Amino acid sequence: MRRFISNSTDETVGIAKIISKKIKPGDTILLYGDLGAGKTTFTKSLIKELGVNGNVTSPTFTLVNEYTVNDLKINHFDMYRIDDESEVQEIGIDEMFADKTSINIVEWPQKVSSYLPQDCIQISINILGENEREFIVEGIDE
Ligand SMILES: Nc1ncnc2c1ncn2[C@@H]1O[C@H](COP(=O)(O)OP(=O)(O)O)[C@@H](O)[C@H]1O
Ligand SMILES: [Mg+2]
Repeated sequence: MRRFISNSTDETVGIAKIISKKIKPGDTILLYGDLGAGKTTFTKSLIKELGVNGNVTSPTFTLVNEYTVNDLKINHFDMYRIDDESEVQEIGIDEMFADKTSINIVEWPQKVSSYLPQDCIQISINILGENEREFIVEGIDE
């Protein structure tokens, strides 16, 4: 387990940079934390660190945004609007989570708990103050 404290969005970018060096194709990253914790802010930085140029937006209304860098696929999910978890079956979630050539990043994973793969990287973001956040990272090589 690793713990980071961020005091600004810039420091969150720095944490994303550190984490980006530890992840590899086949990894699924689960992001826990309340609305406004910083899951999307962190993910945008992570996706850019992984080499995606251009605009990275929140998939709040699309469920998933897909990016490709060279041969690497990156899927950014936001499950917030899921009411019944079987909704994700339609988008082929099983295949996406099983694909060892892609990196999956999932906001609100608790909404689709029975579809999650085993051995995920888990990141919990806790709001400590207006600009202060605690990141608890589990399942990553130290
Ligand atoms: N240290 C910090 N790290 C990340 N975001 C922060 C931080 N301090 C303040 N914020 C703000 O908190 C909000 C996080 O929003 P967002 O990333 O969309 O959260 P979530 O996706 O978890 O709902 C943004 O408005 C961001 O500017
Ligand atoms: Mg979000």
